[in-house]
Amino acid sequence: MGIRNPGRRNHVCVVDANPKFRQEVVQALTSFYEVSEHWEQGPALEAIAFDPPAAVILDENVLPRGGLPLLREICCVPDLDRIPVICTATTERSNFLADASLLGVRSRLLKPFRRSALLQALSHEINGKIERSWIKIEPLQQAALQRTTRVFNTLADMIGEGQSMPYDQLRNACEPLVEAVRAGNYRAMLEGVRDHDNYTYVHSLRVAIFLSVFGDAIGLRGDDLSTLAAGGLIHDVGKMTVPFQVLNKPGRLNDEELRIVRGHVPPADRFLALIPRLPRGAMTIAAQHHEKLDGSGYPHGVKGVELNELARMATITDMFSALTDWRTYKDAMDPEQAMFILTQLDKELDQRLLKMFRAVLLDTAQKLS
Ligand SMILES: [Fe+2]
Ligand SMILES: [Fe+2]
Repeated sequence: MGIRNPGRRNHVCVVDANPKFRQEVVQALTSFYEVSEHWEQGPALEAIAFDPPAAVILDENVLPRGGLPLLREICCVPDLDRIPVICTATTERSNFLADASLLGVRSRLLKPFRRSALLQALSHEINGKIERSWIKIEPLQQAALQRTTRVFNTLADMIGEGQSMPYDQLRNACEPLVEAVRAGNYRAMLEGVRDHDNYTYVHSLRVAIFLSVFGDAIGLRGDDLSTLAAGGLIHDVGKMTVPFQVLNKPGRLNDEELRIVRGHVPPADRFLALIPRLPRGAMTIAAQHHEKLDGSGYPHGVKGVELNELARMATITDMFSALTDWRTYKDAMDPEQAMFILTQLDKELDQRLLKMFRAVLLDTAQKLS
């Protein structure tokens, strides 16, 4: 059996004979991974060998003789044995899970599991090396990355299940980030997520850091900085409803895709309204980070004085971050070039704030590009 390529980082293969469960998993992974589905051992193995995924989610229930024969094949074929497998079953006493751990499988999930548990297990397997490397960075920044990853995965549950999260949980998760920014110690965080595969998390974390740095520089303190960090971290939660293929499409989006991507703002408003005591400022960041001064932004075309300073800061930070983010299909833009593009948008962006942003961030961002 020939192995064509070394594995795509964002491709996850789900093998389960139960169509309802497969559908649920595919849904849970929307926006995070490209998912292929199989229910029979033979075709599944062939597909995995032909185009090795970043991880396999393998259930005890696979045609024709259960998940174990397929697991044995994956564990025995050289090269395939490097693909992380997450085994699923309906009971702890499943023989499949016992056999899987004998074969060295560390990740196992009992059905029904929460979206966050699945995302956490996948992230742990796929980003394990990156997340383990965080041990080497300074404790405050390490805590910031660990807590924000955890809270980000929990947000995925909240969206999937229409549940809420206390604001305190979000603020606590952002506390080390804010402290690190106040101490001027945030580069290791930015470097630490460079190769992380969850693009929405990476982008949101960068926006949270940049907004906090910006806020700190203009004299905001205490709760105001927490609001900026929390707002940055949650500003794009609505993207968790956008399919992976659209969110990660290289090149220009067609009209329909553009409509889908732009549609990420209203769901965020609805989700965030469920968070009790979420500061108004964090809501503003999420609701207005795509609005422009001349009214050309979305979703409401709000303009001029209707956009307060926070909304203007959010738009600048979000655009700068999007331009300089590293994507699997494109290199990060040089920060100086990104700033130049933003200065050309003099009708859309608040140029006084942009000047301040430039002074604060260009130096840091430059050293990271
Ligand atoms: Fe956005
Ligand atoms: Fe964004």
